[in-house]
Amino acid sequence: MIIKSSSYAVSAVREDQYPKDNLPEIALAGRSNVGKSSLINTLLKRKNLARTSSQPGKTQTLNFCKVNEKFYLVDVPGYGYAKVSQKKRQEFGEMIQDYLETRPNLKGLIILVDSRHEPTKDDIAMYDYAQYLNIPILVVCTKMDKIKKSQTNKVMSGLKKKLNLNYDHVTVLTFSSVTKLHVTELSNWIEKRINE
Ligand code: GTP
Ligand code: MG
Repeated sequence: MIIKSSSYAVSAVREDQYPKDNLPEIALAGRSNVGKSSLINTLLKRKNLARTSSQPGKTQTLNFCKVNEKFYLVDVPGYGYAKVSQKKRQEFGEMIQDYLETRPNLKGLIILVDSRHEPTKDDIAMYDYAQYLNIPILVVCTKMDKIKKSQTNKVMSGLKKKLNLNYDHVTVLTFSSVTKLHVTELSNWIEKRINE
């Protein structure tokens, strides 16, 4: 897939604010700071279309970016950030749940996990939840530039074990926004989902 155009479209916290032009959507979920916004920018070759930050908790709404006038990438607030209040966390949870459970345009979910840490309880819960909802899943293991090449197999087998991954149903990619590792494969997966 060649990226010809990309633009920020809208931020939403509830259904009546979602885009109304009925295009397919691919959402990104993962722990705060795992690299969701960076992945979007890397894929779209944009510097800061999806706003990134070294401070966790940057993304607080569902942010829709329109790509090639053909589909949306949906940047979702990260989970598991301790400094977000209990009330806010519950609001985020409900907002994400509403979106994932009710949005017919949603064609795939990219779940990001940090290659430097074992998947957390939240990662496992998100993965199980998406499977239960029957959404096609791509697991992306981020920040691979921070991992020694010799550690790759260990990281992948840890991931497989913790998430109880079944490769027949789920695709897994290692990724880095710094080295652009597997950005083509990522783009291919998205293209396939939006054309299904
Ligand atoms: P929230 O919006 O808080 O949920 O975070 P996010 O998942 O959108 O993370 P974001 O893309 O803002 O990245 C968080 C930090 O990690 C930033 O400082 C990024 O520069 C850094 N980062 C993201 N991806 C990579 C990567 O592949 N390699 C390295 N080394 N750093 C990365
Ligand atoms: Mg973000």
